[in-house]
Amino acid sequence: MEKKTKKTNKSTEIFQSRLKKHHDELRWLYMELYENPSMFAELCSRMEQFYLERKEPLKKLDLDREKDKEWYRQNDRLGMMFYIDNFAGNMKGVEGRLDYIEQCNVNYIHLMPFLETPKDRSDGGYAVSDFRKVRKELGSMEDLEELTAACHKRGICVCMDFVMNHTSEDHEWAKRARAGEGEYMSRYFFFDNAQVPSQYEKTVPQVFPTTAPGNFTWIEDIGHYVMTTFYPYQWDLNYKNPRVFNEMMYHFLYLANRGVDIIRIDAVPYIWKELGTSCRNLKQVHTIVRMMRMISEIVCPSILLLGEVVMEPKKVTPYFGTLEKPECHLLYNVTTMATTWHTVATRNVKLLKKQLDIVNSLPKEYVFLNYLRCHDDIGWGLDYASLQEEGMEERSHKQYLNDYFQGSAGGSNSRGELYNADPVTGDARFCATTASMCGIEKAEIEQDGKGMEKAVRMDIMLHAYLFMQSGIPVLYSGDEIGQKNDYSYKKNPFKAADSRYIHRGAMNWVQAEKRKKADTVEGKLFQELGKLEKIRKSEKAFVSCADAWTTDTGNAAVLCMGRYWEGEKIIGLFNFSETDQTVRMEECEYTDLLSGQAVRSGEVTVPAYGFCYWKQIVP
Ligand code: GLC
Repeated sequence: MEKKTKKTNKSTEIFQSRLKKHHDELRWLYMELYENPSMFAELCSRMEQFYLERKEPLKKLDLDREKDKEWYRQNDRLGMMFYIDNFAGNMKGVEGRLDYIEQCNVNYIHLMPFLETPKDRSDGGYAVSDFRKVRKELGSMEDLEELTAACHKRGICVCMDFVMNHTSEDHEWAKRARAGEGEYMSRYFFFDNAQVPSQYEKTVPQVFPTTAPGNFTWIEDIGHYVMTTFYPYQWDLNYKNPRVFNEMMYHFLYLANRGVDIIRIDAVPYIWKELGTSCRNLKQVHTIVRMMRMISEIVCPSILLLGEVVMEPKKVTPYFGTLEKPECHLLYNVTTMATTWHTVATRNVKLLKKQLDIVNSLPKEYVFLNYLRCHDDIGWGLDYASLQEEGMEERSHKQYLNDYFQGSAGGSNSRGELYNADPVTGDARFCATTASMCGIEKAEIEQDGKGMEKAVRMDIMLHAYLFMQSGIPVLYSGDEIGQKNDYSYKKNPFKAADSRYIHRGAMNWVQAEKRKKADTVEGKLFQELGKLEKIRKSEKAFVSCADAWTTDTGNAAVLCMGRYWEGEKIIGLFNFSETDQTVRMEECEYTDLLSGQAVRSGEVTVPAYGFCYWKQIVP
């Protein structure tokens, strides 16, 4: 008994000292938004409760990671994202597939949304009806805790989504609001006539102009409009109400205590709304994210915040906060991703080089999550001002990219579909898997051996280039074996209008078996990616904070990337065209990291869609 009290005292001491460190700033920001001391006091006392409830192994992890702040900035992290049902049926199934995950060299898994959500009105799980319940078919909170513990034993981190901008219309709060309870109505944005909604519509852009036009939904039974930035069944939460902020933080901490390591704050730029603005990236959003960062540093400091900010670079980087007042630990490198596919379609690396130079010039503390594909569409958010200088105009270039990736322009072998083609702006985004965009689907249908070889080479080259970027690469499940588009969503009336499901097919485990045979498409991809992943983990120049740069190769189709760390330099050359290309480089001795052989630079030929990783020991 006495022992237990001692332990609790020691434990609260840790909490108190963390709280002390952040208290003044946290209180100041809270008061700035809410001017409500009693709600702030409630927040602090609930934080302590969540801290006390946190299990010992997680508290140990908190202490370890507090000491080693660099733990996620090394060269050893490789992520994979997947839908639990598509990947392994349910959470227990995922636990049963951890060997496979390790074979993929993956030590960070992003479990796509798995909390309770109404069937057929879920937006892929992004309409949460209960933040404390796992969807029945996927398992339970106990299964989640068992899974996170099993992952930790193998050194695997687990990421989950925290969908904080909105709840499902089936969430208890929404139901009570719909029943007319004023307190719950004040947690959302309700209007009894169209006047204010129509004022918002003047300045707020649309997220889903085709599949869910407008930012409001008329709720017939209560005679009110409710704000729904995304789908009509996703009701925007009103963070001007401190009850919303507090309760959402309690959900956040509850989930953190289930053992997850990384919390992806979904659609975060949207969480604060002001009439007359775009309702994106308002300064109050940053206040809230900064408070979330402090709250997690007080209660569960081993947690990383991953911000989902799918916007242009100058809007993304502020979400890292400042070095003294950090916000997110990790952010998606979305512009680099979109620019990569632009480079594929144009075979010209100029814009990509410029984009990489921007990223490389940012503080080394910033860690980006790099990827080729994810569960969402590709929006063509490129630097059009630069493209204009090359004579490329935004609208026609977007049209070209969409035509190219649908396979109808520019000698393309890609297959895929448009997403949310906006009849007013003429804008459209794009959906497909990496393999289909590289030409694997087309070559297979046409039984074109040469085409297949080219497509596989492009796919491997793109991954090699991905791994060379600073940050954490995240694979989209199925890409490691070249999974193609899945058109079966069209048969489901609830999915048919949302082409993002084209790249959300189930993992094909029969196809995955072929990864063991080197002469199959699956085998080539899986084994080559495996070699690259091992090189990345063993060569220290791949650490996130290494010096990174690009150099002009004098050849429009070839990108040259360099990395330097503690006397070791690695150069990567990537040919984005379907023909062999020659570049001139400074004469130097290197070791080819793939073959282990000595090579001499000078005039170098990079094969069609080929690449090289060369290492130099700098005296
Ligand atoms: C995020 C998700 C996307 C979802 C949206 C609404 O952008 O990535 O899939 O539709 O949020 O929650």
